[in-house]
Amino acid sequence: MNRKKEQQKQQAAQTAANYIKEGMTIGLGSGTTAHYLIREAGKKYAQGLHFYGIATSRESEQLAASLGIPLLGPKQAGKIHLAIDGVDEIDRDFRAVKGGGGALLREKIIASRADDVIWIMDESKLVEHLGTFPFPVETVPFGMPFVKLRIREMGEVPVLRVRNGSPYLTDSGNHILDIQFAQDADIPAAAERIRKMPGVVETGYFGQMCSRIVAGTSSGVKVME
Ligand code: 5RP
Repeated sequence: MNRKKEQQKQQAAQTAANYIKEGMTIGLGSGTTAHYLIREAGKKYAQGLHFYGIATSRESEQLAASLGIPLLGPKQAGKIHLAIDGVDEIDRDFRAVKGGGGALLREKIIASRADDVIWIMDESKLVEHLGTFPFPVETVPFGMPFVKLRIREMGEVPVLRVRNGSPYLTDSGNHILDIQFAQDADIPAAAERIRKMPGVVETGYFGQMCSRIVAGTSSGVKVME
């Protein structure tokens, strides 16, 4: 574990937790940085701040429930006031790639329904150009081999995500193909092309969905709007 990185994630989470206000419904992200946020939110709840959470993954749901945060399902949530989540990489134009933890589908559903979205991170996630992090594509299991072929026809190399020797299954029972694009690839254009392939459920491209970035850095927490 890189202690400096963890500290930056935690500091970003502490700052972002201050945006949670009484009565709000909060989209709770997934991944290590989002888990720091959920722990901060849990502390606030225990201190008397009342809000509801809607989780972007089973893991986050379990963590939030263990901290006593009341959770809503998609049928009860209705309005989501604020979503706070981590990213795998993000550029200056607030275009992000997410899904390293496999929760991209729910993350996108919740972020796209939220009135306000905050991405939280350590400084290693801030990049000049998207494409460093493997780009996730969620596919239904039946469609996966066909999508794999189509991505190969684009000249890219899709790699089936595996966990414990078996194809990784998302919370929605789908597979993930990861693509390591070239450094100068046009990620938004590639994402648009891939998104249209039958069998693809969602991609990890989150184009300008957030209104604010909260990044822990070596010179303190930076909030960018
Ligand atoms: C999960 C995600 C995460 O937000 C992303 O992978 C960042 O994770 P971490 O905070 O652990 O670096 O998109 O699907």
